[in-house]
Amino acid sequence: MSDDIFRDAYKPAEYNSNISKAKVYLTTCAINCDSPIVLVTSGGTTVPLECNTVRFIDNFSTGKRGSASTEYFLRRNCYVILLHRSGSLRPFFRHFDANMVDEAFSVDERDDLVVRKDSELGKNFRSIYDAYHKFRNKLLMIEFETCSEYLWYLRGIANLLTSYKSNAIYYMAAAVSDYYIPRDAMSEHKIQSSDAALDIKLFPVPKMLGHLCNTWSPEAFSVTFKLETDSTILISKAERSLQRYKQNLVIGNTLSDRRVRVTFISHSKDNVLKERLCETKGSDKSELEELIVDELLSSYRLWLSSE
Ligand code: PMT
Repeated sequence: MSDDIFRDAYKPAEYNSNISKAKVYLTTCAINCDSPIVLVTSGGTTVPLECNTVRFIDNFSTGKRGSASTEYFLRRNCYVILLHRSGSLRPFFRHFDANMVDEAFSVDERDDLVVRKDSELGKNFRSIYDAYHKFRNKLLMIEFETCSEYLWYLRGIANLLTSYKSNAIYYMAAAVSDYYIPRDAMSEHKIQSSDAALDIKLFPVPKMLGHLCNTWSPEAFSVTFKLETDSTILISKAERSLQRYKQNLVIGNTLSDRRVRVTFISHSKDNVLKERLCETKGSDKSELEELIVDELLSSYRLWLSSE
């Protein structure tokens, strides 16, 4: 089954050109650099119900975790390839919304649109704009939509990153579908509605984390996320994932409070399970992702020094 998803039928239309862009990015920007190169995955994957897709299954992920973390990795001098769901939140642009139009801009006497220096939103816009220009050459963004597109890109980028060995960090914040419909079982055209119930059989998406951590990029620092809705099973599920895939770290979160707290779960050298809570305090202005990135980079440096 794991090879099935890598059949040409699933290959993203933009795959070759995006992988070429990633090669150019790595050779022109990130080659010989001492800073880590981080692959951040972000957003949910869709599962199409038809080959000519009208309907699909989706999930809750907004891309906030991935896009916000990308900003903090860039601010901490890392290079970032952001593999994100099309239409999900993007670094820097995530701060802009329609409310800004009236408050942050005005038209001057020459009829030019200008940023209002006397408004908080105007100042905010300017500082985000400056940060975007400062960091954009260190960032490459690649979009996916479906689960199979995500897996194709993950494998393709891992293939390029493998030569960066321990200089590469995987930060897997995407919410990847667990089930899909293989092409051979999918309706070619739009499923016609009728009065009868619709039966759809979903098949498990092949597990790729083992390949990633042990074959595609075994020397990299790999961090995966685990989301549960029942907090009582979060740590045991994270521990099971560590035992199974041997990644360096699992970051656990629950749906209801994922914006304010996560737990770092890892194994020490003598295989003892370690848990560290990372949370924003009520009055704290920091975003949780800033705390996560700082905590993660110190674990990474510790790991590098013990290699
Ligand atoms: O986007 P937001 O709204 O900000 O929400 C962020 C988040 C809650 C989605 C994020 O913090 C998170 O928890 N993502 C992982 C969700 C999850 O439970 O994943 P999982 O248990 O299905 O997968 C475990 C890990 O393997 C994840 O890091 C996932 O990205 C990765 N994975 C899973 C399956 C697969 N086929 N390929 C993968 O890379």
